Amino acid sequence: MNTIPGDIEMRAGEADVIPADEFEVPEISQDSRETVGDYTVPDPKMVMRRVNVYYGEKQAIREVSLDMGTNEVLAMIGPSGCGKSTFLRCLNRMNDTIPACRVTGELLLDGENIYGKGVDEVLLRARVGMVFQKPNPFPKSVFENVAYGPRLHGLAKDATELEEIVVTSLKKAALWNEVKDILEQPGTGLSGGQQQRLCIARAISINPEVILMDEPCSALDPISTAKIEELMDELREQYSIGIVTHSMQQAARVSQRTAYFHLGDLIEVGETDQMFTAPRHPLTEAYITGRFG
Ligand SMILES: Nc1ncnc2c1ncn2[C@@H]1O[C@H](COP(=O)(O)OP(=O)(O)OP(=O)(O)O)[C@@H](O)[C@H]1O
Ligand SMILES: [Mg+2]
Repeated sequence: MNTIPGDIEMRAGEADVIPADEFEVPEISQDSRETVGDYTVPDPKMVMRRVNVYYGEKQAIREVSLDMGTNEVLAMIGPSGCGKSTFLRCLNRMNDTIPACRVTGELLLDGENIYGKGVDEVLLRARVGMVFQKPNPFPKSVFENVAYGPRLHGLAKDATELEEIVVTSLKKAALWNEVKDILEQPGTGLSGGQQQRLCIARAISINPEVILMDEPCSALDPISTAKIEELMDELREQYSIGIVTHSMQQAARVSQRTAYFHLGDLIEVGETDQMFTAPRHPLTEAYITGRFG
């Protein structure tokens, strides 16, 4: 373990976990907030440079530069309110739906500016899909939940092809065996873990290139969580995955790279193994050793 400044240790003695906004940042100089570690990768799927996000006057993300690699799971961790969801939502322009929200900086998908003129947000969100914290199946049948996107985007030329897409997506989401006999029943009638896999099947059904997941397992039991984690490892062979998680064990299990955010800054990024065994920034170390959250 790296040594950490004494003041963190002192504060750590006062309470088990200190809320992030009460946690004393050891050095507030601009330098200490510059990202530690290499935020670039040799084969980026997405490239983000000097991204700033504001909600009205309030800045939620500050000068964040980060790559998402091809076929990698990138974990984004950090205390509540540090801007993980805000940053994730920039990657498929979900923040555009929040009126007060303003995004600046450069965000590229396969080298193309996703905020460029003429970019169709609906098509972008088909390429960069999203799975939310709370499973949100449509009030439709299991089949229709998955068929909806391909139909909307005209991906199947007939009913047989549509059925093929639905079956393949459910198989890829490791849900097929559990739902193959109840395809006409409502998706909302499935268990929480099944609903989340249904939402993953729905995201997969339109052939995304990137899948963003914002705490996808926080409402799930350990067995469902294990299934989704296993699934992520398989999905990464075909997609790039960005996952926000509060579980450091989960980040360690599923990701190849980890990015640690603190109060809107990207503090440290690196190989997940290195990050969890030898964090380089004192804030990262304090967070992953559970001194604050
Ligand atoms: N729609 C919004 N309008 C105004 N401020 C917002 C909005 N969404 C988020 N914020 C603010 O932006 C900051 C970052 O929030 P964000 O939800 O991105 O954090 P987070 O890291 O995802 O937190 P959590 O772990 O609790 O989900 C917070 O200070 C939050 O209050
Ligand atoms: Mg969040």
